[in-house]
Amino acid sequence: MSTRPAATAISPEQAAVEQQLVETVIASFEGTQDSRLKQLMQALTRHLHNFAREVRLTEDEWNAGIEFLTDAGHITDDKRQEFILLSDVFGLSMQTIAINNETHKNATEATVFGPFFVQNAPEIPIGGDIAGGASGQPCWVEGTVTDTDGKPLPEARIEVWEADEDGFYDVQYTNDRVAGRAHLFTDQDGKYAFWALTPTPYPIPHDGPVGKMLEAVGRSPMRASHLHFMVTAADHRTLVTHIFVEGDPIIETGDSVFGVKSSLIKRFVQQPPGTPTPDGRELRGTSWARTRFDIVLAPTLDLK
Ligand code: BEZ
Ligand code: FE
Repeated sequence: MSTRPAATAISPEQAAVEQQLVETVIASFEGTQDSRLKQLMQALTRHLHNFAREVRLTEDEWNAGIEFLTDAGHITDDKRQEFILLSDVFGLSMQTIAINNETHKNATEATVFGPFFVQNAPEIPIGGDIAGGASGQPCWVEGTVTDTDGKPLPEARIEVWEADEDGFYDVQYTNDRVAGRAHLFTDQDGKYAFWALTPTPYPIPHDGPVGKMLEAVGRSPMRASHLHFMVTAADHRTLVTHIFVEGDPIIETGDSVFGVKSSLIKRFVQQPPGTPTPDGRELRGTSWARTRFDIVLAPTLDLK
């Protein structure tokens, strides 16, 4: 792609021609019945034109952009969503989460949902194992779910999902095995605990146009090691989040989808082989890890 100076000086006459076009296009949405749709379309027009004018977009670059979006469409199906991935690597997903999940008192922060959640994952009892045969180091995860005043929330539903130690979710394999995912409910004291796998880093799907784009700009597709949570309880805002592993170098070098928040980085304490487990589980001489995640949900009412 050819380079040209971003800030080419233009004559007042040329600027007027360009501005006239922007205003004409914005005016074309004036009759939109739905006022929110009108606002979205007019603002989008303004920002798109500002972008093209600021960078002095060439026709070759415009064509490359169209080709990129066409490729993203071609690779997208009911399992692969390249447009969400694109939004993720631009930080737009995280920005939308920030806009829609304003911090509220001490409520746990939200982060990106990702493409690997599956409805109807199996239910496990408290202390059960989400691994379902997925490989990795066993990891005991425990904590509470409370409201912002510290009141326990019994029967809160906790969905958890994660990649195996090779960096793949169950849905990325060709078999139908359900592994590395489950749901459970908190007890009467708002407590929960389960066995999972110590999270390991893995790349976002990077064999398509988004991967090519990351390569072209010298960015890594790697995500910091994490375990996904979605927590729901009556009268509380649903929380979609992850916990990250303290000390993972990708936290420093940069998570490819900008999902890391410092409040979500947790210590995963390594336990040498032979260390007794919290529930007496026999791990036959393998090491394991443990972590704690106390979850605080914001109320759905009176969010200010
Ligand atoms: C994930 O956490 O699994 C993920 C998030 C965003 C894009 C791709 C993967
Ligand atoms: Fe993930």
